[in-house]
Amino acid sequence: MRSFLGRDILSLRDMERAEYFRIFQVCDELAPIARDRRNTDLLKEKTLVTAFYQPSTRTRLATEAAMHRLGGAVTGFADAKMTRAGDFYQESIKDTVHMLEYYGDVIAMRHFQQGAPAEAAKWSTVPIINCGDGWGEHPTQVLTDLYTILKEKGTLDGLNFLCVGDGRMRTMHTIAHAITQFDIEANFVFPPEMAMMQEYVDVMDAHNVKYSFVDHVEKVIADADVIYIEPVVQADYTKSRDEGDVEKGLTPPNYKITKELMRKAKPDSIILHSLPRQDELPPDVDSTRHARYWIEAFNGVVMRMALLALILGKME
Ligand code: CP
Repeated sequence: MRSFLGRDILSLRDMERAEYFRIFQVCDELAPIARDRRNTDLLKEKTLVTAFYQPSTRTRLATEAAMHRLGGAVTGFADAKMTRAGDFYQESIKDTVHMLEYYGDVIAMRHFQQGAPAEAAKWSTVPIINCGDGWGEHPTQVLTDLYTILKEKGTLDGLNFLCVGDGRMRTMHTIAHAITQFDIEANFVFPPEMAMMQEYVDVMDAHNVKYSFVDHVEKVIADADVIYIEPVVQADYTKSRDEGDVEKGLTPPNYKITKELMRKAKPDSIILHSLPRQDELPPDVDSTRHARYWIEAFNGVVMRMALLALILGKME
């Protein structure tokens, strides 16, 4: 297995099965710290720099919380408009990263341009964590999802996934990479105008993943062990910011997971959502035994603790 020391986490494209399980093992080792709401000194000599060019609630704050739990320092920005990258100068990724690399030991970046974290990694002497890049990928979110499934179902093999939402979403792209390493069969329910790009379908084909594209959740809900839902009423992920001041429309029933629909699901199926949500997952589902999206918030901190500890060489 390759070492995680100094490694960029840009995509799950090249992540191997054994590496996933090593990350999950470190999560298990560090989880008690977060569960006990303690801060330790494991990374007390290290600093995290967050560079968020797009809004975020979970990803930025979970990464920062993870660094605090491990005793490290945190600096950075949550709005590029307050930096020279987002004003008159529109400072380039290269120039910005050549500064940030001296302000800390690892950079967590979210950007509206697909490939921006990879561009940053070309110039940075410290590791880059991709926290979501345009419609590209979202590796730390999907690692959190997989860890949640492993904890809840006890396995990542022999499972049927129902993935519903916008097939262009970065989480869906990263799932396409991730499921190549497990015995997972997937049913995807995407609106035709939000189909998954062919390059991600090709990835699944190249790895003999069993999948199908279906037009209504009702047709496959009974097969699902894991229901992964994302909105189809979406922001434009290529913009630095999309205000919610327009008529958003409603989610067609084909792409909704409701309490009524869950009557047709397996009793032990679980629902994940990376959040934020629109109307595709009504709040009354939250109280069902299927909902696991709140525990994902806890696991999201644990996952980032594991990644930081591995990347910064405190766990091997
Ligand atoms: N799931 C997710 O990426 O949420 P945020 O946009 O709030 O980080």
